[in-house]
Amino acid sequence: MRPATDLRYDTSRAEHARRQQVIAGGVNSNVRLHGTPVPLTIARGDGALLWDVDDNVYIDYAAGMGPMVLGHNHPAVTAAVQQSLSVGQLFAGQNRFEAEFAETLVGVLPWIESIRIGMSGTEMDLLGVRIARAATGHHRVVRFTGHYHGWLDPLFVNMAVTPEPMGPVPLTPGQSVSAASDVLLCEWNDLTQVAQALESGDVACVLMEPVMCNTGLIPPSVGYLEGVKALCRQHGALFIIDEVITGFRLGLTGAQGLYGIHGDISIYAKAIASGFPLAVLGTSTELLAGVGRGEVNHSGTYNTGVSSVAAGIATLRVLIDTDPYPEIDRLARRLVDGFVQLGRQHDVELAVDHIGGGLLQTRFGKPGPMGSRTDFAANSDGPMLARFLELLQDHGVRPTSRGLWFVSAAHDDDLIDRTLAAADHALGELAASNEG
Ligand SMILES: Cc1ncc(COP(=O)(O)O)c(C=O)c1O
Repeated sequence: MRPATDLRYDTSRAEHARRQQVIAGGVNSNVRLHGTPVPLTIARGDGALLWDVDDNVYIDYAAGMGPMVLGHNHPAVTAAVQQSLSVGQLFAGQNRFEAEFAETLVGVLPWIESIRIGMSGTEMDLLGVRIARAATGHHRVVRFTGHYHGWLDPLFVNMAVTPEPMGPVPLTPGQSVSAASDVLLCEWNDLTQVAQALESGDVACVLMEPVMCNTGLIPPSVGYLEGVKALCRQHGALFIIDEVITGFRLGLTGAQGLYGIHGDISIYAKAIASGFPLAVLGTSTELLAGVGRGEVNHSGTYNTGVSSVAAGIATLRVLIDTDPYPEIDRLARRLVDGFVQLGRQHDVELAVDHIGGGLLQTRFGKPGPMGSRTDFAANSDGPMLARFLELLQDHGVRPTSRGLWFVSAAHDDDLIDRTLAAADHALGELAASNEG
């Protein structure tokens, strides 16, 4: 445990106490509630580094929970946003950045003809479901336990990792039970369950993360995505692929490019705008026609704020022009190999899941790819992972609080070396405390 005299986080503690007086829990997303020893207050970020208010420096792998694929403060993005500020922010009308952003996005994702832009992944997922209902005349939504599609009532069901599958139960007090009653939950990678759900009728769409990234990092099994798509076709349902995490992260064309299959509707957010609020629903011109005619509603005061769209254009431009993905993948593989080797050296069961690109998941359990949610639950020692992450933070390395790591274009070999050295210390301390 940390010594009581550890002053390393004192200013963060004071800032947190101050916020707690006027902000519920001292944070503005419940995901941030459980920082140890206190939710950190970050003073600034640059490249792959973060500085907290106590002047501790971290090599950042949380990447703002995904968006910072170019690192913090990327000069091209900052310059584009700064320039955009001079024309104003929000006009209750269109701005001259929107067409360029849409053309750029559609130019790299061949399965998309037309888009709508919003502010968050959550609302774009809900728009996708609405379009699917309008297009099919069906109402129910098939989705998967352990996947996440935002925090709002109609989709926020059964995220928890439990040994037994559960029905579609609401996950928070205050949630409308009826709003989620159209959801049918299946286990990830179980095609029979998807078939059964679709056969039960009235299904508007199957909604999934193409790689389960919100509970471990679990790829689709061979032929699974194709199987789901064929079942959708057979039952007149649409296939919605939520690339909020994987989009522009697993590569320029995301998971759909990686697996060579595309859905009817695709959702992108996080990595498209370097931390500015921008999210996209992309599909065929035909499926968006109802929205375009004003029959299917999609609205939002802040949609396409000038600075967000400018950030989006600049981010996509850098990703397209520099293609950082092979280098990100190489650095991620160095981390994977290094962690596995360090685990062996310290005689702890540190396993790393990686499917290419800059995403990896550390866990304590048997090595090898996880095939299902229950597989992951049985092979991820939560308390041990939490302790490892806490020790890593003390040694200046900050992945997400669930052990998912985002390697960005701002990381380099030196930072990977430093990360592995920090992991070496952390695992040494972890092994010693396990013995003690
Ligand atoms: C796969 C997926 N979909 C949707 C969302 C919701 O996105 P947002 O937080 O932008 O509303 C998330 C958020 O982490 C996500 O991981």
